[in-house]
Amino acid sequence: MEKIDKIALTKISYGLYVITMSDGEKDNAMICNTVMQVSNNLYAVSINKANFSHDFIRKTGKMNINVLSEDAPFSLFQDFGFRSGRDTDKLADTNFLRSANGLPVLTRYCNAFISLQAEDYIDMESHGMFICHVTEAMELGTGASMTYSYYHANVKPKPGAQNTSAKKGYVCTICGYVYEGDELPADFICPLCKHPASDFVKLEPSAAPAAPATSGSPTQKYVCDICKAEYDPAKGDPEHGIPAGTPFDQLPEDWVCPICGQGKEYFKPAN
Ligand SMILES: Cc1cc2nc3c(=O)[nH]c(=O)nc-3n(C[C@H](O)[C@H](O)[C@H](O)COP(=O)(O)O)c2cc1C
Repeated sequence: MEKIDKIALTKISYGLYVITMSDGEKDNAMICNTVMQVSNNLYAVSINKANFSHDFIRKTGKMNINVLSEDAPFSLFQDFGFRSGRDTDKLADTNFLRSANGLPVLTRYCNAFISLQAEDYIDMESHGMFICHVTEAMELGTGASMTYSYYHANVKPKPGAQNTSAKKGYVCTICGYVYEGDELPADFICPLCKHPASDFVKLEPSAAPAAPATSGSPTQKYVCDICKAEYDPAKGDPEHGIPAGTPFDQLPEDWVCPICGQGKEYFKPAN
């Protein structure tokens, strides 16, 4: 009776949101699925401490929840979920308005926004949870809200969806973009997800679709680029049937991040 079935864990449903923030000088935005109404006027938002947004909201205490609708394209997730505001202005190419609290409101691909003021903070090891009350809320459209399962089924490209086997060049392990050419310039930046050349792997003729580069060491730890969860071969993932001592490159192809459910292709070697 004590077995933890990973399929059972994926039955919890989530929405998907763009959280926007501002300190008056800089704006930022990130994708988040862990937003929940926890009482009449209180919302809980869980943010990974490694994200720039975590420290930003710790400082300002304010955020807007932009509720994504089902028409939101994958490029929006790439813009706000695969890049960090530490090194880029994520909102530079996005049209937005400002709510009464001065924070950005996305007008496209969203059906509502909710402005939150943090009242409390709970330290949850890898994440911090902000307990907030609502200061403003407005409907922006009538399209259905996007759920996490809708995103997985209809928006996120399936691993290996691109036919890379016939191409020569380098593939971005983050988003699957293929650079065709013999040598990838050292300063190359992926035009889709803006990750650097170090996140590309060489395509071998008839190679399997994009997979993270492996270090060659069976003890190399890997980190999920989406939620920052770590895979440590010394521990394995026993809850999901992966025994301790399993190197990353021997994980089954359908293994997914136990925290955020993303595929192996989103992992990269830990420093
Ligand atoms: C579908 C999806 C769901 C995500 N959910 C969360 C989440 O619930 N909490 C979180 O901290 N990060 C989540 N992320 C990851 C952040 O959006 C991502 O790490 C982002 O680049 C952080 O940007 P920042 O460094 O500017 O804060 C999610 C990403 C995606 C693509």
